[in-house]
Amino acid sequence: MGAIKTIGILTSGGDAPGMNAAIRSVTRSAIYNGFNVKGIYRGYKGLIDDEIVDFKTQNVSNIIQQGGTILKTARCKEFTTEEGRARAFDVIKKHGIDALVVIGGDGSLTGARQFASEFDFPIIGLPGTIDNDLYGTDHTIGYDTALNTIMWCVDRIRDTATSHERLFFIEVMGRNAGFLALNGAIASGAEAAIIPEISTEVDQLAELIQNGFRKSKNSSIVLVAESPVTGGAMGLAERVRKEFPEYDVRVTILGHLQRGGSPTAQDRILASRMGAAAVDALLEGQRNVMIGDDNEEIVYVPFSKAIKNNKPIDRELLNTLRRLSI
Ligand code: F6P
Repeated sequence: MGAIKTIGILTSGGDAPGMNAAIRSVTRSAIYNGFNVKGIYRGYKGLIDDEIVDFKTQNVSNIIQQGGTILKTARCKEFTTEEGRARAFDVIKKHGIDALVVIGGDGSLTGARQFASEFDFPIIGLPGTIDNDLYGTDHTIGYDTALNTIMWCVDRIRDTATSHERLFFIEVMGRNAGFLALNGAIASGAEAAIIPEISTEVDQLAELIQNGFRKSKNSSIVLVAESPVTGGAMGLAERVRKEFPEYDVRVTILGHLQRGGSPTAQDRILASRMGAAAVDALLEGQRNVMIGDDNEEIVYVPFSKAIKNNKPIDRELLNTLRRLSI
């Protein structure tokens, strides 16, 4: 493959606040460095269906503050097939795209990795997901905003929980990862977090609740990460209702509320730094890496590591939560 002249950008998988800031940063950094830019709509689906337009600096004006993604997004089954990826490559050739920047989570980078190796094509990934579950980066784009949204919601639920002296189970997103639940619990002063990484918490739940209610508390909030391992907020609430019929139990599932909203300053800055770094990476001849943030330093993480390695949860945070919930 010759020198890169044209860069295509797409967002894929679940949207995350800050994706627009990332699109803006990639577009403007690329144009600043003399590249042409093509915006690809609806992720890999739009790539296969040839939904591609030229992007100029004006295409990304006034979007840094917007949640969602102006490029739209999709989860695309067809791209998981060889035929689908071959069609996508034909469209890439037709538009003269020499490299891709893919903004998305685990599934999107898995697709990027496969495509890059099949067609020997340069792709740079940006970690865009509220789940924060990609290995090799301290934070993903969208995580901080989602965490703040969770905190905002739990603060409000606490008002009614306290007034009615109730026990609330609040389910948060995370797709089998407990980052949002654990840090959301610490940020909102919840009594406990039930996360898939540490399944023993479920067994200790009864003890924890009893202790809390026996002592000074007459209301409690437990954050539950969505996952078959935790059983979700509904499942846990059912168990507790049976064991402790005396408690007034309620469930709130925050759901897609967590994915929307204007990105926080932290997410806008992270997305801006990572977008610029994606273009720098291409200028340096990097390919098939995800941009990561390691202690405020930009790092290049091979796709294989970002996807395959499990990002560890800081168990010390759980101890902190326990100590603070007495
Ligand atoms: O990966 C982001 C995420 O919001 C997960 O936390 C959640 O499990 C999933 O996407 C929900 O996906 P969908 O919007 O397709 O239902």
